[in-house]
Amino acid sequence: MNIIKVKNYEDLSRVAADIIAEQIKTKPDSVLGLATGSSPIGTYENLVADCKAGEISFKDVKTVNLDEYSGLSGDNVNSYRYFMNYNLFDKVDIDKNNTHVPNGTGDSVEESKAYENLVASMGYADLQLLGIGNNGHIGFNEPCDDFPAATHSVDLTESTIQANSRLFDSIDEVPRKAITMGIGTIMKAKKILLIAGEGKADIVEKSVYGKVIPQVPASVLQLHPDVTVVYIP
Ligand code: GLP
Repeated sequence: MNIIKVKNYEDLSRVAADIIAEQIKTKPDSVLGLATGSSPIGTYENLVADCKAGEISFKDVKTVNLDEYSGLSGDNVNSYRYFMNYNLFDKVDIDKNNTHVPNGTGDSVEESKAYENLVASMGYADLQLLGIGNNGHIGFNEPCDDFPAATHSVDLTESTIQANSRLFDSIDEVPRKAITMGIGTIMKAKKILLIAGEGKADIVEKSVYGKVIPQVPASVLQLHPDVTVVYIP
């Protein structure tokens, strides 16, 4: 595991964007696995700037997002589809048809199956970007007794509902369910880049140096051959 310690959010965002930009330059038709949350916003801002400066192009890039809230359609400001359009896709030269986010509004079992098949048909991500929840969740893979393999529907834990309520008008509006890539889907990415900002050092270090257990979902990354972790200690 390649562990990079940075001093602030600005450095975190630059280091992460440089790794993603390098991936796009090396393989212009890369499949990028993308994440939401506050951690990647600065990374996306840098990628938008790099694209506007002509240093990178998303023309041939394809994307697969980790997860989506159940019950929110893409035009809901709290949906992850809306987040991705707003923070990245609408600001770079990507073909929107090549961007994929799980559908939170259909039948969750069918949608999960279809999304797993889609990601598999694309050969899984060349580079998967991840944030990390306070309880060690990646995507929306919450602490549990077995690592979930494929894309699935999940009940969000109270701590995740609480943490994510800051982005909603009230906690009652936070969906209780989501569709997420499984741990198996994430682990099939060729490279993984985990970023974590202020206040996440304890859970990052528990994940990276602690036991590999499904109760700390991010700990599974210790078993992947090509992981870079960038965090603020
Ligand atoms: C959500 C997302 C995760 C993300 C996490 C942390 O729960 N599903 O993919 O990593 O939030 O978010 P933040 O970066 O805002 O702390």
